[in-house]
Amino acid sequence: MKDVIVGLQWGDEGKGKVVAFFSQFYDAVVRYSGGSNAGHTIEYNDEIKIVNHLLPSFYIKKSIELIISAGVVVDLEILYNEIENLKNKIEILPEIKISNLSHIVLPVHKKLDEKYDSVNKIGTTKRGIGPAFADRVNRLGIRIKDLENEKKLQKKVERISAIYEKIFGITFDFNDLKKFYNYLKPYITSQLEIIEDIKNKKVLFEGTQAVLLDLDMGTYPYVTGSNCSTSGVHSGIGFPVKLDNLLGVFKAYLTRVGNGPFPTELTGEEAELLRNKGKEFGATTGRPRRVGWLDLVLLKYAISVSGVNEMIMTKGDILNGLEKIPVCIGYKINGKFVDKILDIEEIEEAEPIYTYLDGWHDVKDYTFKKYIAFIEDFVGVKIKGFSFGPKVDQIKIF
Ligand code: GDP
Ligand code: IMO
Ligand code: MG
Repeated sequence: MKDVIVGLQWGDEGKGKVVAFFSQFYDAVVRYSGGSNAGHTIEYNDEIKIVNHLLPSFYIKKSIELIISAGVVVDLEILYNEIENLKNKIEILPEIKISNLSHIVLPVHKKLDEKYDSVNKIGTTKRGIGPAFADRVNRLGIRIKDLENEKKLQKKVERISAIYEKIFGITFDFNDLKKFYNYLKPYITSQLEIIEDIKNKKVLFEGTQAVLLDLDMGTYPYVTGSNCSTSGVHSGIGFPVKLDNLLGVFKAYLTRVGNGPFPTELTGEEAELLRNKGKEFGATTGRPRRVGWLDLVLLKYAISVSGVNEMIMTKGDILNGLEKIPVCIGYKINGKFVDKILDIEEIEEAEPIYTYLDGWHDVKDYTFKKYIAFIEDFVGVKIKGFSFGPKVDQIKIF
């Protein structure tokens, strides 16, 4: 069994929590794309709360393998801190495998991310993600395996530092990496071994970011630097994995961090209320998340390009107590009614058209079920269950 869980909006749908819950049914959880731009908050109980940036999310009551595959760009310091933090929080550390083919996010990548974003205002997480992926494509990147061989590494470092100094005027700084590498050494595994290892296991692939932030199918250029949608699994593993189930996670409303179009965005007091109620502040950067109503046209688009065949809705509890809930069912674009996206760039000019559904006081109410049924009917994909609180076990599967 090989399944994938991805976000269907602009990230922060609660994927981490959903992956943590479902991982109890698998042997391994694999991260296949992104890097430490991800922030997945997992609340196990009142005492244990973890924010993962690089480690896969997992269920703590079961032994499980956590794999960081070649498609992930790894910030060694962040990973070191994450493992240390985990050791302090839980008794037995899961087995961790880090691909030797993963590219390393270098301090220069973070500096360059800042520089680029000050002009090309995407509103990135400044975690060096774009520049690290760009160096990978430019064949300049340093991979984890490169740290094994001092001499070869020196040559690569000289080459990359010359380029950074000449082209970008940025001084290359490489000192601390060895310390973190030595710490992480016991976990480093060849990508081939990872491929062999997962072949006959029950594996859950954990998406980061989301379909609308996917490098190709998202709201380009306001996207991240990797194929974080379902299509990224194959290249991120380096093997054409046959996926059985593709599960999409979406929030009962919508959020976005960073810049880019957002047709159903709220402003002013209404936005403040929803943001505070939903605790919508970035897990990675602490930035207030932009908030708005559920956009079913975008959800349908995300489903169609990701091939998702079932869904989980999260955070319906945040909307408890609203009398009516606006849901976007179409747009007016250049005077025309549109309810299907053919070119995602068009949403920059879209004016949302809403229908107003009855609210609920509690997710056990009939009107909550009707909200779910309305969404299923509109997008044509089954909602398998819903999450109704931040804790891992606060999830109801139908
Ligand atoms: P991710 O990046 O998709 O994993 O999502 P984040 O962890 O960045 O953001 C989701 C936030 O909502 C986290 O703080 C979760 O603990 C919390 N959360 C997840 N599901 C629910 C839910 O159903 N209800 C509530 N109230 N909070 C939730
Ligand atoms: P999780 O996995 C929400 C957004 C950034 C920015 C754009 C590009 O927690 O859902 P990047 O640093 O990747 O070059 O930034 O993508 N972004 C996210 N937004 N959740 C995330 O991850 C994100 N990762 C990147 O805010 O708009
Ligand atoms: Mg997040």
